[in-house]
This record gives sequence, C-alpha cells and structure tokens, in this order.
Amino acid sequence: MVKLIQVGIGGMGNTWLNTVEASDEATYAALVEINPATADAQAAKHGLDRSRIFGSLEEALAAGKADGVLVVTPPQTHRDIAVAAMRAGLPVLSEKPLADTREAAEEIVRVARETGLLHMVAQNYRYSRPVQTLKRVLDSGQLGPVGAVAIEFYRGPHFGGFREVMPYPLIMDMAIHHFDMLRFFLGRDPVGLYGRSWNPAWSWFQGDASASVVIDFDHLVATYNGSWCSQAGDTPWNGNWRFDCADGVAMLEDDRVWTQRRGAERVEAPLVDMPLASQRYLLHEFVQAITNGRTPPTTCFDNIKSLNIVLDAIASFERHGDH
Ligand SMILES: NC(=O)c1ccc[n+]([C@@H]2O[C@H](COP(=O)([O-])OP(=O)(O)OC[C@H]3O[C@@H](n4cnc5c(N)ncnc54)[C@H](O)[C@@H]3O)[C@@H](O)[C@H]2O)c1
Repeated sequence: MVKLIQVGIGGMGNTWLNTVEASDEATYAALVEINPATADAQAAKHGLDRSRIFGSLEEALAAGKADGVLVVTPPQTHRDIAVAAMRAGLPVLSEKPLADTREAAEEIVRVARETGLLHMVAQNYRYSRPVQTLKRVLDSGQLGPVGAVAIEFYRGPHFGGFREVMPYPLIMDMAIHHFDMLRFFLGRDPVGLYGRSWNPAWSWFQGDASASVVIDFDHLVATYNGSWCSQAGDTPWNGNWRFDCADGVAMLEDDRVWTQRRGAERVEAPLVDMPLASQRYLLHEFVQAITNGRTPPTTCFDNIKSLNIVLDAIASFERHGDH
C-alpha cells in the first residue's frame, strides 16, 4: 500500500478522500488542512482520525513516513506545497492548474528536474469514457486529418470561494481542462493564439467569466468559446466539440460521440470501456509511477504546455488594454 499525505481536504478534497478510501493500492499516512473547522467537519464526515490531520505539510512530514503527496488546495498555493514536498523527497500528484503563474509553474518544473521526482497534474478530464472514445476515433484516421476544432462550454455555477474573486476564473480554473484535452486529442502543441475575455453585466464573478480564444496549430485552428455565467442551455463539463476533418466530422455532443463521413448519415460511436476512470485512474497511475517507475502522460513537463495556453490567453486578453 502506497502511503499518501493529502494537503487540502475541503471541496475537491472530498473526491480525493473518497477515491483513496475506495482504493486497494493507496492509503493515508496523514492529512493536512489549514482550516481547523474544515478538519473537524471532514474528520466527522469521513470517519478520519482527527489526530492525523495536521495544520501544515511540515508537521505531517514529521509525523511519519509517506510515499507521496496529493495537493488539493487552491491554485495560488500549489507551488509552495509541491516544492516543499519534492524538497522533502516525495513525488507529487497535484490538482490542476499546475500553478497560478508562469514563474510558479517554471519553479515546479525546475525542482522536479533537479530532484528527479515525479510531479503529475490531475487532468482527470482526459480519462472519461466519452473523451477516450473520441480520442480513439481521431487516432483511427477514419476521417482523415483534422483541419479545424470548435469547442463550446457554457455553464453558470455559483461556487463561492476563490473562483468568484480570482482573475479570469473561466480560463484559469476551467479552460485548463479543455486546453489540456485539446493537446491530448490533437497530439500537437499550438504555435500561437489570441483571445478576448469579458465579464457580462449579470456575472457574479469578480474576474472575467466569459472568453473567446483562437488557437493556432499551424494549418489547423481551434476556436474556444466559453462562459461560466451562462443562464441556461448548459453544455456538459467536457464542453461540446466539433472536429472538421478531410473526410467528415467527429463530434462530442452532450457526452456522446458521433462521426459523420461526407455524404453519409451520422453514426454514434459506442463508448469504450474503462475499468478505472477519472480520479481512480489518476491515482492508479500515480501508484504505478511510485511502485514501478512508470511515467504518466500528465507530468509537469507536459502539463506546463497546457498551462501555457491558459497563460498566453490571459496575456492576449491583457494586450487588449482594458483590464
Ligand atoms: N479536477 C477537477 O475536476 C477539479 C474540480 C474541482 C476543483 N479542482 C481543483 O482542486 C483544487 C482545490 O479546489 P477546491 O474546490 O477543493 O477548493 P476549496 O477552497 O473548496 O478547498 C481547498 C481546501 O484547501 C484548504 N487549504 C488552503 N490552503 C491550504 C494550505 N496551504 N494547506 C492546507 N490546506 C489548505 C482550504 O482550507 C480548503 O479546505 C483547485 O486547484 C481546483 O482547481 C479540480
């Protein structure tokens, strides 16, 4: 059993607590939560030993041996926690985004390189049945090369907390999933982009909740249109996707995958089976990396390329000059 320290046991911490509790490969050495009220409430809710929930990573590290650190705290804390974990000799599985700034992300990458330790980002959206199905359709080559991608994401969640006060919440906290999926689907990295963000009059977010980004992959352009203050007509969290290819189109619509060849009817692709999906799959990959040295695809070395799309989009928004 791999022994983990989970830092942050609030919101998304619940999903990870449930994932580790259900795992037969991993268990907890300790937990870390900065807010004592959250620590009390979560200990009661999840039946945790309250004496194993510490106020800092340093205390948790001192309390006993661990094999890895799970980071489930807000983005602006990811760098300090990840760097402290790796400096203590432990590999990291961190929630997205890798970090909140380019400088912070580059420091994580530097420390991972220096220490030779795994830093892996939880891009769970890659590991769902519809997304894996669409990837298989694209990789089969049945529709020919991709020439254009259109992505639409519209929802209106009321989260409270850090997302409602952070700059560019849609792009930083949500679109990182879609941009990472885009690199995953295409197997390529962009050569340039430009974008515009804005905050609709009725938005309950302080930062811009809407954005459009045109991402250039060199003879292949992806357009991203999204909003986190949409009032109706929600898309799934994955968004809806359309790939225009030489011989037809592939679509992800409402988490169903369709193909349509030129002049033919559209056909639904059966979803692939996945024994482990989402966080369960990521945890398995992390355990495999620790026990067998197998490198997962979403290391910080790869993930900084997804984060760079986010950061380049923000730089482009800011070049418009009204922020
Ligand atoms: N992959 C996904 O689908 C997904 C979904 C939701 C959230 N997330 C990510 O998970 C992370 C956490 O988001 P959340 O919604 O749980 O936020 P949250 O604010 O609801 O919870 C974060 C928890 O971390 C604690 N915390 C903050 N700083 C800490 C520190 N330095 N040490 C220990 N504990 C600390 C907070 O007290 C809180 O309990 C974010 O990076 C977010 O983007 C990912």
